[in-house]
Amino acid sequence: MSSKSKRSHARLTVPQIVKMKNARQRITMLTAYDYTMASLLDGAGVDMLLVGDSLAMVVQGHENTLPVTLEEMIYHAEMVGRAAKRALVVVDLPFPINHQGIHQTVVAAGRILKETRCQAVKLEGGADQAEVISALVSAGIPVVGHVGLRPQTVHAMGGYKVQRDQDQLLTDATAAQDAGAFAVVVECVPAEIATSVSKKLIIPTIGIGAGAGCDGQVLVCNDMIGLTSGYVPSFVKAYADISKIIQSATARWCEDVKENRFPDDEHSFG
Ligand code: KIV
Repeated sequence: MSSKSKRSHARLTVPQIVKMKNARQRITMLTAYDYTMASLLDGAGVDMLLVGDSLAMVVQGHENTLPVTLEEMIYHAEMVGRAAKRALVVVDLPFPINHQGIHQTVVAAGRILKETRCQAVKLEGGADQAEVISALVSAGIPVVGHVGLRPQTVHAMGGYKVQRDQDQLLTDATAAQDAGAFAVVVECVPAEIATSVSKKLIIPTIGIGAGAGCDGQVLVCNDMIGLTSGYVPSFVKAYADISKIIQSATARWCEDVKENRFPDDEHSFG
């Protein structure tokens, strides 16, 4: 066995993630968009990495997730797929691929798995996407559903709003599960509703702004480490202030260069 295939076998698998729900082990998932960050998060023990379409906002500076393309998702997913040694890597299907027909969606998701070493795709939708999920699963492509707040429908929703329709949430999450999704992201839902839906499903729910009753939690990595310059949702807890560290280091370096203190002898060739 080559060292490459040994490495890929050490990665968490879809069945292992599903089993974590039965074992009552909380699942951790963070977004990652490049090799350096993905290596750090993977090394720190996060269970799942998500190459989220949030990269449109976080990396590209757009005001919502709609502009990112399939080619751009593949470009970033390839870096994350190369970095991950333990984490299972999921890639978002960018808007509006999963609404362009089953064939188009299977082709796009197939490209993601073939070209990036990532193991699964995520798509926004529940009941309305059941046929698409089922076709992907039949093609051997593991799927994570995404219900509650669906950022790709921001214009239809008129903004990012907490989703309070319990029946709709249960219908969508159950439809995703019945169609073969192995997990479902639940976004911006009151904690009580998310807890109740999580208890009714046999697949894990991964919450974001959905309280503590989900089987796992996901956050945008940059929000969690304090690297987001703009708006940060109220449900985010920042565990560091990386922006401050970067700005302070950069300001000190600029000053040292201006004052001729860098490079010094130690950092020059004799
Ligand atoms: O794209 C993303 O970052 C996501 C998370 C918010 C779950 O879908």
